[in-house]
Amino acid sequence: MSDAAPVARVSELLARPSAGGAVRVRGWLRTARHAKNLSFLEISDGSCFATIQAVASPELDHYESVVAGLGTGCAVEVEGELVESPGKGQRYELHATRVELVGGVDDDYPLQKKRHSFEYLRTIAHLRPRTNTFGAVLRVRHAAARAIHDFFDERGFVLLQSPIITTSDAEGAGEMFAIEGAEDFFGREARLTVSGQLEAEMVALALERVYTFGPTFRAENSNTSRHLAEFWMIEPEVAFCELDGLVELTVDFLRFVLRRILDERGDDMAFFDQRIDKGVIERLEHVVDADFERLTYTDAISLLEQSGQSFEHSVSWGMDLQSEHERYLAEEKIGRPVVVTDYPAAVKAFYMYLNDDERTVRAMDVLVPRVGEIVGGAQREHRVDVLRRRILEAGLSDEEYWWYLDLRRYGSVPHAGFGLGFERLVQFATGMANIRDVIPFPRVPGYAEF
Ligand code: 4AD
Ligand code: MG
Repeated sequence: MSDAAPVARVSELLARPSAGGAVRVRGWLRTARHAKNLSFLEISDGSCFATIQAVASPELDHYESVVAGLGTGCAVEVEGELVESPGKGQRYELHATRVELVGGVDDDYPLQKKRHSFEYLRTIAHLRPRTNTFGAVLRVRHAAARAIHDFFDERGFVLLQSPIITTSDAEGAGEMFAIEGAEDFFGREARLTVSGQLEAEMVALALERVYTFGPTFRAENSNTSRHLAEFWMIEPEVAFCELDGLVELTVDFLRFVLRRILDERGDDMAFFDQRIDKGVIERLEHVVDADFERLTYTDAISLLEQSGQSFEHSVSWGMDLQSEHERYLAEEKIGRPVVVTDYPAAVKAFYMYLNDDERTVRAMDVLVPRVGEIVGGAQREHRVDVLRRRILEAGLSDEEYWWYLDLRRYGSVPHAGFGLGFERLVQFATGMANIRDVIPFPRVPGYAEF
């Protein structure tokens, strides 16, 4: 193989300034069309949205034994000359000199060159990455993850690995998956974490700026297009920071990440714009350019009351905002992302800073069109006496949270942070309707295959 042409990825080939030269490409066939005097093999290697076409002539000595039998789904390695393509829509193609079948397909290959429903594709999640849509989703996830790390790195944040097995309920909401055998193993009950926030707070009160990026688990029985039982969350936490600083950080962050997705994944975004959600690029551009609206919860309630809309859940001060209210605000009333702050204490977690009115807390949710809540965060309660009271009022045990209270006794400072649901971000960025279709292997009530 020493004289074999170098292996190239399709993304790299298509970016070349000119054709010419022998190359080798590996991938899976989207289609194989065998005409009388030529075979056309459409190869995808997942490196970008585009495929590359290899053209193989019956004059190849292995044409009958290899090429003629190729079909959709086959894994191949093709060596050939990179030439300008006469076909429209593609810059280069490969004139094959050697085609090797690396892995054949059984007759019942379920992915044919036609539109499959997303529901159906979920049942074949092991093959779904080979489709246009899921390749694009996975590349957007990657670009978003890198952008997130870059954003925080550029601002002096340290990445924190918070534990997945935990003995405390970070949200105090009791939606945790228990771990069988934990009692025997740890000598106490343990669960899967719902959030890395409390750990992030501990470390932020030493390193000032930290963030987590890890899996979180919620045993809430929410069968919606926006909920997963396992999802990834990004949770920055900043010491010496109050609500206004938090809002600023959040807005900068969302703009930065969306800008990078638009810049780096133009090919995939063009697909989402044409085939999944018309106008999604323009919507994102608008978010990146325009200011976010900022409202207090109390003002949001007034807007909803004055809206003249008939909501399924009627509106009154003190209620938690439902998805229909969030979407009305972001989609219809304001038409862009909205930052809502200062929610009633009763609908939010125990750790949020209590305002002087004793009724509201320094919470912050970011609502975006179509998805609703994409970010939830808050300034934290850093006064030990108030925090203990809030823990007890929430029906939790102050003994269980001894270390969390301790932090308020030893060098406590105002601090704040947020949680971004990674899949909600990807959903918003791509315009995909269902959150199950933006995570490689969704876990939802009644379903955990693969
Ligand atoms: O609003 P949540 O519950 O906030 C927290 O967990 C805080 N500890 C965050 C913090 O301040 N550090 O969740 C944060 C975000 C939500 O805004 C939403 O984007 C996402 O996580 N999220 C979910 N995403 C998918 N499926 C679910 N079941 C989700 N629940 C929350
Ligand atoms: Mg929330």
